[in-house]
Amino acid sequence: MSVTHAAPESVPERSEPADGPPLMDHAYDGIREYDNPLPGWWSLIFIVTIVFAVIYGVYFHVGHWAKTPDDKYQAQLADWTEKKTIRDQAEAARVDEAGLARNALDVKLVEHGAKVFAQKCVGCHKEDGRGEIGPNLTDRFQMHGATRMDIYRTIRGGVPSTAMIAWGDQLAADELLDVAAFVITLRGKNVPGKAPQGQAVGDFGP
Ligand code: HEC
Repeated sequence: MSVTHAAPESVPERSEPADGPPLMDHAYDGIREYDNPLPGWWSLIFIVTIVFAVIYGVYFHVGHWAKTPDDKYQAQLADWTEKKTIRDQAEAARVDEAGLARNALDVKLVEHGAKVFAQKCVGCHKEDGRGEIGPNLTDRFQMHGATRMDIYRTIRGGVPSTAMIAWGDQLAADELLDVAAFVITLRGKNVPGKAPQGQAVGDFGP
């Protein structure tokens, strides 16, 4: 049995209306298109966006009559950096090896530090400092430096790309000092736990 296909119907030619918009030259599958102008509201929005962009560009980027979000951010950052520098300098003048050694003998400060430790640090260093995720803080080995100041600095600044974050951003200045005092008292308790890491430092290094 043979299938016969009907011949496609021929597309009737349309003549251009005398008064409407002209027909465009192309045709797709016989579909023709009138050359209608864009709607007025559409053109208006388009022009408004161009005008807005020019005014915006001149106002913010050429004349600098107002601050861009980036300008504001840079200003805040500069302000913050300046305050941080002042705070760091003040702190550096206050915290030193001898001061930390004294703090570690002050029962009140150490007790307060133990509370901070119980709240923030036991997850990784365990309640007695024997270590788990973090190193054992009770042996005479230290990963970062050897002195009390090194302990303070590690707690304050953390160790980048490890679980040890910068606690200076989380704790108040006295919490930071006192928890360092507490950690200093742990040295030499030798609680069995995580194997020693870092270098042997005896009591406290030079
Ligand atoms: C989320 C886990 C985690 C928490 C919470 C944490 N630490 Fe750590 N800590 C670590 C790790 C991991 C290291 C070792 C980093 C490395 O690999 O250098 C470390 C290192 C240290 C060191 C340096 C030890 C050395 O041998 O130099 C001290 C001191 C320390 N932590 C104290 C603290 C104190 C104090 C707190 C609470 C305020 C705390 N840590 C909270 C994971 C933690």
